[in-house]
Amino acid sequence: MRFPHLRLRRLRKNNGIRRMVKENDLKTEDLIYPLFVTVGENIKNPVPSMPGVYQYSVDELLKAIEEVYKYEIPAVILFGVPGYKDSVGTSGLDPNEAVQRACKVIKEKYPDLLVITDVCLCEYTDHGHCGVVKDGEVLNDETLSRLQSVAISHVRAGADIVAPSNMMDGYVQSIRKALDERGYNETPIMAYSAKYASSFYGPFRDAAESSPSFGDRRTYQMDPANGDEAIREVYLDIEEGADIVMVKPALNYMDVIRRVKDEFNYPVAAYNVSGEYSMIKAASQNGWIDEKSVVLEMLQGFKRAGADMILTYHALDAAKWLSR
Ligand code: PBG
Repeated sequence: MRFPHLRLRRLRKNNGIRRMVKENDLKTEDLIYPLFVTVGENIKNPVPSMPGVYQYSVDELLKAIEEVYKYEIPAVILFGVPGYKDSVGTSGLDPNEAVQRACKVIKEKYPDLLVITDVCLCEYTDHGHCGVVKDGEVLNDETLSRLQSVAISHVRAGADIVAPSNMMDGYVQSIRKALDERGYNETPIMAYSAKYASSFYGPFRDAAESSPSFGDRRTYQMDPANGDEAIREVYLDIEEGADIVMVKPALNYMDVIRRVKDEFNYPVAAYNVSGEYSMIKAASQNGWIDEKSVVLEMLQGFKRAGADMILTYHALDAAKWLSR
């Protein structure tokens, strides 16, 4: 059948019909809120390149989480801004550091809020790379045992899910093994499986103070030109025991989200990264776009592309908008 008998506008005629044929729905349950936690007290440092985002000390973090909980966001992901850094990222596995203390107090106060932790070394190393460095190179196998220790320290502190973001080969297998050996075989791994060497991470590196002091991350993160390789990365992570796989960034990689969903039918997380957030903030602060409708359209788009969950700095805003 063709026009004039077939008219697709019939199903767009009014709100009731549009609601009935709507294919995807964005829900508060889809959202994961990233938070930066640091040492000290009474600290709430604004991140200049990310309006509305702060580095919190643990006491201030708890206050921020009150709202997260009130608006029923199911999960937060924590990034550490530690009190000290060294060449091998020792503060990443220090039980007295910010992330570990935050896990403990959040779980005490909000037992049913899911706490996810970012497992990487870049926030804790003085050179800012995601692994152990020797002669200017990021070493793969030497990094794995450090990542195991970071993951264990987070789970010991109470983390519900660990999210390794380092892009070392064999990282999921190593972390799964380390957790299982200590009886944490029920702790899921959300793997940053297809993580690209993206310029959209710029503002995050201000927030986490984690810019590499030399070189870049292209020897471990993926080339933005590649799509097939993302499928291989995700395949390996699933084989190694990943429970949730991630595509990061999200906006420029919607095709990858769709391919991963179609290929594996696994829970897929999309990371709507810092640069994506800051672009929208800047444009809306200038009055050039309407923040609310643009953000909801974008997040809806990630769902349509195949994401089951979305890590976004807009999570709290979106949860508020969705609750009305
Ligand atoms: C750590 C990590 C990064 C992000 C999440 N985990 C930074 C990086 O790889 O440089 C970026 C998140 C964002 O831009 O919002 N490896």
